[in-house]
Amino acid sequence: MELPFAEAYKIKMVEPLRKSTREEREQWIKEADYNLFQLKSDQVYIDCLTDSGTGAMSDRQWAAMMMGDESYAGSSSFFQLKETITKITGFEYVIPTHQGRAAENVLFSHLVTAGAIVPGNSHFDTTKGHIESRKAFAVDCTVDEAKDTQLEVPFKGNVDPKKLEKVLAENADKVPFIIVTVTNNTAGGQPVSMQNLREVRAIADKYGKRVVFDSARFVENAYFIRTREEGYADKSIKEICKEMFSYADGMTMSSKKDGLVNMGGFIATHHEDWYEGAKRFCIPFEGFLTYGGMNGRDMAALAVGLDENTELETIETRIRQVQYLAAKLDEYGIPYQRPVGGHAIFVDADRVLDQIPKEEFPAQTLAIELYIEAGVRGCEIGYILADRDPVTRENRFGGLDLLRLCIARRVYTNNHMDVIAAALKNVYDRRHEITRGVKIVWETELMRHFTVKLERL
Ligand code: F0G
Repeated sequence: MELPFAEAYKIKMVEPLRKSTREEREQWIKEADYNLFQLKSDQVYIDCLTDSGTGAMSDRQWAAMMMGDESYAGSSSFFQLKETITKITGFEYVIPTHQGRAAENVLFSHLVTAGAIVPGNSHFDTTKGHIESRKAFAVDCTVDEAKDTQLEVPFKGNVDPKKLEKVLAENADKVPFIIVTVTNNTAGGQPVSMQNLREVRAIADKYGKRVVFDSARFVENAYFIRTREEGYADKSIKEICKEMFSYADGMTMSSKKDGLVNMGGFIATHHEDWYEGAKRFCIPFEGFLTYGGMNGRDMAALAVGLDENTELETIETRIRQVQYLAAKLDEYGIPYQRPVGGHAIFVDADRVLDQIPKEEFPAQTLAIELYIEAGVRGCEIGYILADRDPVTRENRFGGLDLLRLCIARRVYTNNHMDVIAAALKNVYDRRHEITRGVKIVWETELMRHFTVKLERL
């Protein structure tokens, strides 16, 4: 008989989990004003809020931490990190930053000015924030297929080349660069195909523009290219990454995802002018160029993390666990963004709680129900997160209303996946009894989801 698939690691250190009672959870979520960001982590049994900075490091990474060089200038850990980044991406200029949004801040301080237009597949919130706060415009050129959660297409994260070409044909002089997020978090952790990256490169070249990859989950993207795109099945993950980055001019990175560390980020490019320009902002915002907001030991652990995660066994173990959970939801008939992406399941809350009006925030209601059911914490990626229209102040109900269940890297076992799926099934089975949602009683103007206060109706 064929041997089943199993994790490419064994467990060396454990952290006990605390289970709670339904009564405790009802009390805690009420005290948190029905905002899951306001819960304490020890009030959570299985935490699926994010896959960012929540992964477990390997023995090799912990060993590297001991070897880290904490120098201000000329840190040997920085050079070790730089060498690894150059080996994987081909980019020779590297600027470390304390996390992904800091990389955006430093690079965009050099590149984005008022009135600029930055097109991309779907900008992540902080990416959009760093563009809009400079009075520039982030234009999503997402493929239409991404809006239909039930459509099975392999690369729902793609840039729509026609939409991109239109932006450039009309406003080329205002575009400082194109940004492609791999994988596309906002569209459901969906990958971008190599073919699409090539197309974007060709369009960029036609208009003389440069391309940045927001690379937080670039290894997951490479895995999907290997398994879904013709011609890549026999290539190594490192070869695929190298080809992906050959179509870009530079990258911003949140190392908290595919870097397998708990904090960190960087910018990398092969253009000296971008490096020189961004350098001026790294020093005042982040720190000197050989640490940029990171400890030497963290840079050393990141170098190992990047090398480790771009090995097939590591990334395959990760994606197979997400797919394992998705298969359970298929068994129970629970709708999510299909096919499942790299880092999370995005449950289609509008379809699950279809009797709850948009004004009562179905995805947030589902997140609360799932927490009360089993202490599983997810994250609303929906109408609360979408904020209000800056001009009309109306809620933005145009997009999808999803409950994101992120899977931390190398943290939970498939038994935990079974618990998540069973808890969700229990909520799903009583969905017709959940007829009312929540209302907002206090909110901020921007990024309200972190601090919003809610009441149950
Ligand atoms: N780009 C993408 C695609 C991201 O998903 C994130 C963070 C960032 C940039 C910013 O990186 O957090 O290191 O500053 N995403 C996290 C999430 C927060 O939960 O999806 P950061």
